[in-house]
Amino acid sequence: MKEDALRGKMGFVRGQTALGRRGRAGASTRLDTRHIHYATSPWWPHTLVAADAGRGQVLVRGALPLLYEKGRVMKIIKAKDYEDMSRKAANIISAQVILKPDCVLGLATGSTPIGAYKQLAAWYEKGDVDFAEVSTYNLDEYRGLSHDDPQSYHYFMRENFFDHINIDLNNTYVPDGSNPDAAAACSEYDKIVAAAGYPDLQLLGIGNNGHIGFNEPDDHFSKGTHCVDLTESTIQANSRLFDSIDDVPRQAYTMGTQTIMYARMILVVANGEAKAQAVHDMCYGPVTPACPASILQLHTNCVVVADEAALSLCE
Ligand code: GLP
Repeated sequence: MKEDALRGKMGFVRGQTALGRRGRAGASTRLDTRHIHYATSPWWPHTLVAADAGRGQVLVRGALPLLYEKGRVMKIIKAKDYEDMSRKAANIISAQVILKPDCVLGLATGSTPIGAYKQLAAWYEKGDVDFAEVSTYNLDEYRGLSHDDPQSYHYFMRENFFDHINIDLNNTYVPDGSNPDAAAACSEYDKIVAAAGYPDLQLLGIGNNGHIGFNEPDDHFSKGTHCVDLTESTIQANSRLFDSIDDVPRQAYTMGTQTIMYARMILVVANGEAKAQAVHDMCYGPVTPACPASILQLHTNCVVVADEAALSLCE
């Protein structure tokens, strides 16, 4: 499809928007980025659409950054410290559950969300929040670990959250890392997440290198669930949770970036100085698969709750 045809179909092509320039210069997708334009669309009038004029494909849609000052595309909430970050994140998640008791939550592992899970469990104990009808879909799992392996994310979720609330374990899903058939395990998980209608709220941590789930820096944004080779920096970062670095699995199954973007709301939590560069690049860097979290700039409802140290480069 020619650019003119796209213009007719999508409205006014704004190739010279700030994001458009960044998209052309910085974002490297598998597509020829010289053809990528950003436009408003008659179907989603308050929404930014990135389209490949060469192929006539709509790639992503998200908030219209031109309407916002720097820092207002994503809602960024500064927390004093880890406890404050955890409480604020838990407040947002519990509001979701209270507003929609049978909501679909996308959940994350890692050290960062543990405090929020603890807070939610405490509020459940007090009778403030009820998880009986909630269903959950985790982002990722190490390949090759059984569900009972203490290093598996299946185990992590039970230990840190599910065993402390009244969720029905039959309504909790994590990619099946114990299935050696990567293609089968991943397509099965995609079907499960799609059948659930995608998360109402997706909780995300962020890796030191800007990864979300286990979507590592790459030359393109991923789509559905897939098997990834973990980068040395991620293996190194996650080795603190294993007896030795040799025990860290080298591969994982992860929900893709596109699937993550389907969530109706995204809540990113981050704390500590080690995350400062990744948080800066996520919020203010170019939208590029070299920093997978940067795609969240295009989500229409993304909230970042981070402590002062994690936001130290965003001032
Ligand atoms: C892992 C997980 C991510 C998580 C990241 C950061 O790699 N797959 O989902 O966001 O670690 O972990 P932490 O919160 O421990 O820094």
